[in-house]
Amino acid sequence: MKKIFMAALLLMTMIFTGCGGGNEKTPAPEKSEEKTSAEQKPASSDKKILVVYFSRTGEEYNVGKITTGNTAIVADFIAQKVGADKFEIKPAKPYPDEYEPCTEIAKKELEENARPALANNIDNLAQYDIIFCGYPVWWSNLPMIMYTFLESNDFSGKTIIPFCTSAGTYMTGKEAQIPEHAKGATVRDGIGIVGKRCQDEPEAVKKDVEAWLKTLGY
Ligand SMILES: Cc1cc2nc3c(=O)[nH]c(=O)nc-3n(C[C@H](O)[C@H](O)[C@H](O)COP(=O)(O)O)c2cc1C
Repeated sequence: MKKIFMAALLLMTMIFTGCGGGNEKTPAPEKSEEKTSAEQKPASSDKKILVVYFSRTGEEYNVGKITTGNTAIVADFIAQKVGADKFEIKPAKPYPDEYEPCTEIAKKELEENARPALANNIDNLAQYDIIFCGYPVWWSNLPMIMYTFLESNDFSGKTIIPFCTSAGTYMTGKEAQIPEHAKGATVRDGIGIVGKRCQDEPEAVKKDVEAWLKTLGY
């Protein structure tokens, strides 16, 4: 009788406490579901984002005189989509409005590995975690002023996501060297857009940019 009572007690305890057999592991699926949904959320959702860019107006390759630079247009699309602040890099000495003279100056700066002075620098970079970094391709490289900017700020622990516009060389591979200049930064895959498209078919460019952002989790 005592044995039957003990067995019944044990059974009741197992039912009410749910601690028999493998029940200790029962909550595991809930936990893993939570984890999965957290992983699916963009890792960046709680991070502060900045779009920093350099872009020229005036006479530009294949588009005539423009009042909003090609890269500036892409920068706008990114900032709108991800809800970022924007910062425009400006040279202390503006580049010529005419295309050819500008290319000559840019070529000289590249050959001399110059660091053209900034007209402005950002004073609150520390608050940002993710920095979209945009520029026009100049002589298959970043404009030298981008290096001035990257070397003038502390990028420790920050993620840089490059984007560029060009006549057609897309990304040149130089973006992989950004961490050599932006010390402490990690670089993610970027996007290159043909500059003329920004003027001629901005809505199509917007769609391309949004599709790319989606691959990054935005
Ligand atoms: C100085 C200079 C150098 C350029 N070099 C290249 C180049 O090497 N490859 C390329 O595809 N486009 C080149 N381009 C074209 C620009 O990358 C392209 O027009 C870009 O979209 C301009 O962007 P922005 O309006 O934001 O300045 C060059 C333009 C300039 C002004």
